[in-house]
Amino acid sequence: DTLRDAFDQCFLVGTALNRWFIADEVPGLLDFVGDQFSAVTAENAMKWGRIHPEEGQYAVAIPDRLVSFAQANDMAVVGHTLVWHSQTPDWVFEGEGGQPASRELLLGRMKDHIDTVVGRYRGRVHGWDVVNEAILDDGSWRPSKWREQIGPDFVEQAFRFAHEADPKAELYYNDYNMTAPGKRDAVVAMVKDLQAKGVPISGIGMQGHFGIGRPSMEDFTAALDAYGSLGLKVMITELDVTVLPWPENLAVGADISSAAENREELDPYTDGLPEEVARAQADQYAALFRELVARKDFVSRVTFWGVSDADNWKNNFPVRGRTDHPMLFDRDLQPKPAFDAVMAEAKGCS
Ligand code: G3I
Repeated sequence: DTLRDAFDQCFLVGTALNRWFIADEVPGLLDFVGDQFSAVTAENAMKWGRIHPEEGQYAVAIPDRLVSFAQANDMAVVGHTLVWHSQTPDWVFEGEGGQPASRELLLGRMKDHIDTVVGRYRGRVHGWDVVNEAILDDGSWRPSKWREQIGPDFVEQAFRFAHEADPKAELYYNDYNMTAPGKRDAVVAMVKDLQAKGVPISGIGMQGHFGIGRPSMEDFTAALDAYGSLGLKVMITELDVTVLPWPENLAVGADISSAAENREELDPYTDGLPEEVARAQADQYAALFRELVARKDFVSRVTFWGVSDADNWKNNFPVRGRTDHPMLFDRDLQPKPAFDAVMAEAKGCS
């Protein structure tokens, strides 16, 4: 009756854990996670800003607990993430006298960070999101300090450093909107270039922040097959299916209480998820899993970005304080129709 058992012959099924979950502050939660899932990712605790906030200072208590928990429960750990434009402290990019750090200084800091973090968990982390979100939806490079200050080879350098620090760990490129044709084609081109240079990359992570009917199955399967054809493992790394509309008239990060006029429209399910919406969400999850199971030869993991509808980042994104229902489990950790729909697709695994 668990996701990890049902999909055992297909792929790992993972979840992301926030700091409160990892610290075991929510009674029963970790037992539930150990039963249901075969992989874990730290939602934030291994990001540069959290694990290496000041030069030479590493905060490893929460990441260490995550890795021990996973080992005790025979789960794979996914390290998230080494090189990202976001959640990286300013000092990383600064040089003498407030000038931008030189290529050499920044590469040295990148290597030191990767050596220390990947080296600490060598043999205990199954795979790392080495580079996160380097390409925009239109296929152009995302402007970032990594790229501006190191140059276009920052991606390949990160993979080489990670491989040196743990030669057996899988190494991934991870990004969102990976079904957008422009981004898809650019990622394929980038990976082919890395492969031609002998850069050690083992997989591609499609984050998977989806909605009902979004992406279309046409775009989803085209992307899966494009990445699969590179001969790499393909993973869904941050899956959720929001049931809420995008708030066109509110700024990202605004609080929903500031939406005086159309608050109900923007936050319609505060009393619970209506049956027809739960059904539509279940259908979307089922369609996604059907295509993933059909590609079990190269799909190696599906990770949900959270455990249940409670304490889920989608309640606060893109605006704060809504009641979203993006997961397979409701706020009381009870399975939703989406859970049953996903479990039914596991028939394709045996
Ligand atoms: O823990 C502090 C709390 O002490 C403080 O009072 C509060 C005030 O804002 O902030 C809390 O930290 C927040 C943290 O989540 C924990 O909830 C941060 O502000 C907030 O920025 C952070 O958001 C995370 C976001 O990445 C930004 O890094 C989300 O939890 C996390 O789900 C999200 O995950 C990303 C992936 O790493 C990459 N792909 C996209 C995905 C969703 O944005």
